[in-house]
Amino acid sequence: MGRVSGKMAFVTGGAQGLGEATAWMLAREGAKVTVTDINGEGAEKVAGAINAELGAGTAFAWQHDVTDAERWQTVLKEAHDAMGGLNILVNNAGIGSLGSVEDETYETFRKVQDVDVDSIFHGCKYAIPLMRDHGLGSIINISSIAGIVASGNYIAYNTAKAAVRHMSKSIALHCAKTGGKIRCNSVHPVFINTPILDRTKEMFGEEEALAKLGRQIPLGKVGEPDDIAYAVLYLASDESKLVTGIELKVDGGISAM
Ligand SMILES: NC(=O)c1ccc[n+]([C@@H]2O[C@H](COP(=O)([O-])OP(=O)(O)OC[C@H]3O[C@@H](n4cnc5c(N)ncnc54)[C@H](O)[C@@H]3O)[C@@H](O)[C@H]2O)c1
Repeated sequence: MGRVSGKMAFVTGGAQGLGEATAWMLAREGAKVTVTDINGEGAEKVAGAINAELGAGTAFAWQHDVTDAERWQTVLKEAHDAMGGLNILVNNAGIGSLGSVEDETYETFRKVQDVDVDSIFHGCKYAIPLMRDHGLGSIINISSIAGIVASGNYIAYNTAKAAVRHMSKSIALHCAKTGGKIRCNSVHPVFINTPILDRTKEMFGEEEALAKLGRQIPLGKVGEPDDIAYAVLYLASDESKLVTGIELKVDGGISAM
């Protein structure tokens, strides 16, 4: 028996990076998994690889831009029907942008809020009614340590990820009050080695980029995708059935400073 055996999960931004690692982790631990991404081919590739290793019918894929509220409703319904229900929603898709309040354009600022924050509003709004029919449910919103610790040149991302943290608490309290079967928590990763770091690697070279980022973290190194996938697994499973409205920091100690 896996830690999420019999559960049905929906992971956004699952074509690569943390979403891909999370989809694999949940599937290995016994869940059926829907992988969605704006990159539909990438999502299909991940679902195909999971099915090849763990058996047909374990994973499903949809092309899905999380900023599209109508598409959320269609894809959630189709995934729900394909998997036979819905218990776990991982709002993982996200983008960053480097820029201070003086440098950043309003257009990019809005875009980051749209992808990182508004998408979670849409996802939770339409997933919660579907999740209520299927036993205990868990929503996990991927924020960032940047949602807790600010930086001068991260105005759009800091704002978005802080909003995800507080939005998750509001959703947790709403769900607690309306039946108590669904929990909602946020996860706050520090730098993790995924394609999101590609720009930094291009600027400094891979080894130096990872070393440079690692020096900012008390534990001394950048994380691996499974460091986050394990945190999601805990929150997704019934092991955390008393845990709601928390911010789970997976940050190598950076926020302790
Ligand atoms: N890797 C890190 O260092 C780190 C640290 C803190 C938080 N995070 C957060 O973790 C999440 C995943 O990050 P990652 O490192 O895997 O990034 P990534 O760039 O490797 O992957 C993000 C995925 O999201 C998809 N995506 C982007 N916009 C989308 C949209 N509008 N609709 C649907 N899918 C979309 C991309 O196609 C991609 O597959 C993000 O929310 C990110 O902010 C990452």
